[in-house]
Amino acid sequence: MKVAIASDHGGVNIREEIKSLMDEMGIQYDDFGCECDTSVDYPDFALPVAQKVANGEYDRGILICGTGIGMSIAANKVNGIRCALVHDVFSAKATRQHNDSNMLAMGERVIGPGLAREIALAWLETEFEGGRHANRIGKISDYEKSK
Ligand code: RB5
Repeated sequence: MKVAIASDHGGVNIREEIKSLMDEMGIQYDDFGCECDTSVDYPDFALPVAQKVANGEYDRGILICGTGIGMSIAANKVNGIRCALVHDVFSAKATRQHNDSNMLAMGERVIGPGLAREIALAWLETEFEGGRHANRIGKISDYEKSK
């Protein structure tokens, strides 16, 4: 699995935590910034990473900002992206099993690095269940294609 990760200035610490988790897991990843102490705009990071996941360059994407909300809103504008904003381990597993989410967003002003690590671990390890859930995702893809 190849993962693209990015954050704005509000998510730098969790981004580093998740990179160290992926190092331990032996997961290949690339870090797309930000290289920042100062304020940056989350769409400038969410959209390029989402496009890289949507075009198949990366299998999954992880985005962190202050709340995770801006990153998830922006990423979900890209066709083919199912970005889940997650702040608990149950939802991390469920969104992989049921939604086949290909991107994960978290907020560093909402949760700490320890919980973020547990969430990312569950999200990276959990497989999609397919079946009736694939049918439901198909309805979202059909809608995207019809636009
Ligand atoms: C930045 O101040 C903050 O708005 C951003 O990190 C994020 O929370 C937006 O949704």
